Amino acid sequence: MTRAWILAALLACGCATKVEDAPLPLGDSIADCGGCHEDHFDQFRSSPHATSARSPVFQAMLPDVERQWGGAARAQCEGCHAPAHSSDEGIGCLSCHAAVGNHAERDGMLAVDPSAPLAGALHDAAPTIAHRTRRSDFLVSPSLCGTCHELTGPALVDEPTFSEYRASPQAADGVTCAGCHMPGDGERPLTNDPEGRARWTSSHRFVGFDPPWGATPIEAAAAAERTRALLASALTLEVVRAEGGVVIALSNTGAGHAVPTGATFLRDLWVDVVIDGVASARVIVLGDQPMHGERAVALLTHAERVERGSLDAGAERRVFLAASPSASVTATLHGRAVRDSVLAALDLEARASEIPTHEIAVASAP
Ligand code: HEC
Ligand code: HEC
Ligand code: HEC
Ligand code: HEC
Ligand code: HEC
Repeated sequence: MTRAWILAALLACGCATKVEDAPLPLGDSIADCGGCHEDHFDQFRSSPHATSARSPVFQAMLPDVERQWGGAARAQCEGCHAPAHSSDEGIGCLSCHAAVGNHAERDGMLAVDPSAPLAGALHDAAPTIAHRTRRSDFLVSPSLCGTCHELTGPALVDEPTFSEYRASPQAADGVTCAGCHMPGDGERPLTNDPEGRARWTSSHRFVGFDPPWGATPIEAAAAAERTRALLASALTLEVVRAEGGVVIALSNTGAGHAVPTGATFLRDLWVDVVIDGVASARVIVLGDQPMHGERAVALLTHAERVERGSLDAGAERRVFLAASPSASVTATLHGRAVRDSVLAALDLEARASEIPTHEIAVASAP
């Protein structure tokens, strides 16, 4: 029996209320929390946070980063993807729930204190033998997420998700990162104690663009549909007839930051158009392109500069294509988490089948 399961058994016996001031020693791995918070653990363990050090793309980049930019750069990558907040290989429950603030809103500069009462959103959490709790405004604020989702290095790495968010219409309306990325997941007890009070819960899947590396085909298919739905909620594709042709318009109506954001040098998002049966490939492409001189390269480590290509929150990209007024015109938006060129440069072609190509939206001329 793991320590968490022993704690869970103690909790179930009703001894919980007496010992709140002297909680039992609690391990720092996600499984220790999962002994009681089973549903949260089940959602979290296959999320990109829990697997942040296991991504084969990340793993394959590390030796190249060390060769091109040095050991300190590699340590910086690992410091954020595999922080020392827990004994897990990736980001753990304590990374967020033991965070007491940050030293700066960038580059993973979180202040984590595992001896502090755990941060929660409730004002009336029940006493528990496992841990004390405190209500934390920092936990529910975009500042927590922004601490790791704003990168100013090493070298050419520049991922300003938090800055993009702060400039977005959604931030002006008070919508938080968690408001979009941790949607409500119904009311139920927070632990597997059936006597527990029903509480409002929030999804801990952290759905994003990355595939669940190494998942079973059934899990992978469910995750792919969640990613497709998230991407579809971000982008609006339209085909509008204009004099002499059509305008293909793609706008970022649903994300509180640019699309793609974060690791934009990996992402592939593009629009193909078919006019009367004749295909034009990639009439719109989103994502950043690492460049060496005038040549596009696959990896940031081989680049001198980066050409920006993401679509800011609220922004639109339009392309005109010649067509007769009666032509049939269909546009399709596709997305793929990692470009083929990146997989080839990292010798990861064998993992290509784990990265689905999502059909995000289809639009036709009226
Ligand atoms: C022995 C069982 C047990 C273990 C182990 C446990 N918890 Fe809890 N936790 C509880 C109970 C009981 C509550 C209170 C539930 C309520 O009030 O509805 C709680 C509440 C919480 C809350 C909500 C607090 C709030 O104020 O919103 C968070 C967050 C939390 N736990 C995180 C964790 C984390 C992270 C770990 C692992 C480091 C962990 N818990 C381990 C039993 C446990
Ligand atoms: C990336 C940050 C992050 C990580 C990692 C994380 N949580 Fe949370 N958690 C939150 C936030 C933010 C909330 C509050 C959400 C709200 O109220 O909007 C929350 C809420 C909770 C709650 C209260 C109920 C609910 O669903 O709102 C529990 C219990 C909880 N987390 C447990 C865990 C456990 C257990 C783990 C690890 C398996 C974990 N969390 C990992 C950010 C995180
Ligand atoms: C301790 C640092 C840290 C904190 C705090 C943090 N994140 Fe993350 N997050 C990461 C890292 C690193 C990854 C990349 C993992 C990967 O894709 O392999 C990631 C990935 C994600 C993804 C999935 C990206 C994808 O493309 O699949 C989402 C969504 C996300 N985070 C949202 C949030 C939100 C919302 C919060 C605040 C509640 C938050 N994060 C807090 C470090 C953090
Ligand atoms: C208004 C809702 C909304 C808000 C607010 C929001 N996001 Fe997102 N986010 C989305 C949508 C929709 C997507 C899917 C489009 C995409 O992948 O860019 C997404 C995608 C992501 C991704 C996947 C990366 C990628 O490849 O593009 C990460 C990481 C992320 N968000 C982090 C954050 C963080 C951190 C914050 C707060 C600083 C935040 N988001 C605020 C809606 C939101
Ligand atoms: C300050 C925190 C931080 C640092 C430092 C950092 N990253 Fe990340 N990384 C993130 C976040 C947050 C995401 C999620 C953004 C997204 O999904 O687009 C991410 C996503 C990624 C991904 C996509 C994961 C996947 O499964 O596809 C790769 C690859 C990656 N980072 C590589 C690196 C490398 C290599 C370095 C060092 C040169 C590095 N990162 C440094 C925070 C960090």
